[in-house]
Amino acid sequence: MTNSSPRPVALVTGASRGIGQAIAQRLAATHDLVLVARHADLLAAVARACEAAGATVQTLALDLRDGVAAAAALSGLQVDVLVNNAGVAVLKPFLDMTAEEWNRQVDVNVNALYHVTRAVLPGMVQRGRGHVCIIGSTAGRNTFVGGTCYTGTKHFVMGFAESLMLEVRDAGIGVSVITPGSVATELFPEGTNTAWMLEPENIADAVAFAVTAPPHMLVHRLEVRPLSPKRPRSSF
Ligand SMILES: NC(=O)c1ccc[n+]([C@@H]2O[C@H](COP(=O)([O-])OP(=O)(O)OC[C@H]3O[C@@H](n4cnc5c(N)ncnc54)[C@H](OP(=O)(O)O)[C@@H]3O)[C@@H](O)[C@H]2O)c1
Repeated sequence: MTNSSPRPVALVTGASRGIGQAIAQRLAATHDLVLVARHADLLAAVARACEAAGATVQTLALDLRDGVAAAAALSGLQVDVLVNNAGVAVLKPFLDMTAEEWNRQVDVNVNALYHVTRAVLPGMVQRGRGHVCIIGSTAGRNTFVGGTCYTGTKHFVMGFAESLMLEVRDAGIGVSVITPGSVATELFPEGTNTAWMLEPENIADAVAFAVTAPPHMLVHRLEVRPLSPKRPRSSF
């Protein structure tokens, strides 16, 4: 007998590589997927892996800095779980940072949260259920040299997530923020020692935990760190 009950739909931004790819592949066992990023070829490869795990997948090649394009592509989609994951980091001293580097971080890490969440949330409110999960960072409560813009954007995420949580919880919608420490992805420049860092799959597990919690339970903040920055993963 086939199971005809529809799967919930998860929309994952920044799904073409790194943490977003791992989240998509982790959720593919239980959810149908809408995968968003700029690189259509990479998205197609992730989609194939997710389909092999049983998901029905739609890919949308979108630059999330373009609010008009994001609204046109995403408004009206029926989404049960939104994972706002897309992000960029340019870690360098303030006086060395160009306006383009500054704006790119603000546009993807901050403004895209508005474009994507604004497009998808009304449907959740209408249906009286849904989950918005945001990938923040330990940089959302720490500071470091070279982090003026990046830590600023991730501090924004914490304020946005908690305020949105308070606004929509009585409508049946959960808001979670996952705050990873360092994760071995292409967010870091080539040549960075990533041997001690978390793996993207570790963050995907945390997202899955948050979005599959019982309906009356909200995992609002979840910080995940490498146990020791002094030891490579392989030494444990
Ligand atoms: N790696 C870490 O140590 C770490 C730690 C804490 C938090 N985080 C956060 O985790 C999230 C994912 O980072 P990651 O480490 O997986 O980085 P990554 O490997 O560089 O992946 C970034 C993703 O964002 C997408 N993206 C970037 N600019 C975009 C744009 N303009 N429009 C649409 N999509 C865009 C990229 O896809 P395209 O290039 O195809 O557009 C890619 O899929 C970010 O929010 C980051 O701040 C990372």
